[in-house]
Amino acid sequence: MSAGVLSGKTAIVTGSSSGIGKAIAERFGREGATVYVTADKNVDGGEATAAGIRDEGGEATFVQCDVSDPAAFKALIDRAAEETGRLDVLVNNAGIGDGRKVEETTVAAFNRVLGVNLAGPFYGAKFAIPHMRRQGGGAIINVASVYGIIGAPGVTAYAASKGGLIMLTKQMAVDYARENIRINAICPGFVDTDLGGRRAAMPPEQRAQAQALREQRAALQPIGRQAQTDEMAGLALYLASDEASFMHGAIIPIDGGATVLQNWGTLGEIGDRL
Ligand SMILES: NC(=O)c1ccc[n+]([C@@H]2O[C@H](COP(=O)([O-])OP(=O)(O)OC[C@H]3O[C@@H](n4cnc5c(N)ncnc54)[C@H](O)[C@@H]3O)[C@@H](O)[C@H]2O)c1
Repeated sequence: MSAGVLSGKTAIVTGSSSGIGKAIAERFGREGATVYVTADKNVDGGEATAAGIRDEGGEATFVQCDVSDPAAFKALIDRAAEETGRLDVLVNNAGIGDGRKVEETTVAAFNRVLGVNLAGPFYGAKFAIPHMRRQGGGAIINVASVYGIIGAPGVTAYAASKGGLIMLTKQMAVDYARENIRINAICPGFVDTDLGGRRAAMPPEQRAQAQALREQRAALQPIGRQAQTDEMAGLALYLASDEASFMHGAIIPIDGGATVLQNWGTLGEIGDRL
């Protein structure tokens, strides 16, 4: 095992077959954690993340797991704790999107998004906390979103799930503070991933348009660009490490300033005169 700030620790990163979760799992692996890489469907991506960590001298295992299935999530958590004798870090990163207004959001889609993005982290915490208590502490990091903090057009189910995840984080932080189980949430802005593989599934022209629109929107953030996934991994690593020993119940935007900007749009000139 390589030396690093997570040496000797066991970490589970859900949804680490791609995107933000993959970057977090890789960073944890480089910092000495034994990493459980998980995803529901993207088995090839998950196996590749784990193999990449091992190639760099780290320890990683891929386990297929749908976080919206409580029995499967419990089995994953118990397996990691049994195989390594501990569970130090759970990153509830797995998530799916849905870009529709409330009338257009189907009941099935709403329940699916809430099931993965909100119930999933609930199951994870519920089943991980007993292991963490047994060893005297641990860290849970929930990957929420700026859309859990501010409104945006047409993200009904997604925003509801992320807002719920933020409140779940605060609630659990109150309940477990005295047990040295630190629980925090990070709220990314635009990160350059393909959330759910939607763009990858589009014909090339439509994909280029979707990418361009995303970049236009990201350009409206004060920082003027999308983040790279590695820029999320550093914050997750800090929250997972002992350096963050007083970080608890924090809801941390990591968004290039998106949540501090009042965007006046075409009314900008009027706003300047107020
Ligand atoms: N990309 C962004 O701009 C952005 C912004 C804010 C928040 N987020 C959040 O970051 C997290 C990661 O998203 P990403 O952008 O890396 O997208 P992504 O699609 O690359 O990653 C999502 C991961 O979750 C996995 N997953 C999906 N459903 C699952 C399920 N039911 N069980 C287990 N795994 C499942 C996927 O296989 C994948 O590994 C999500 O929670 C997302 O909401 C992303």
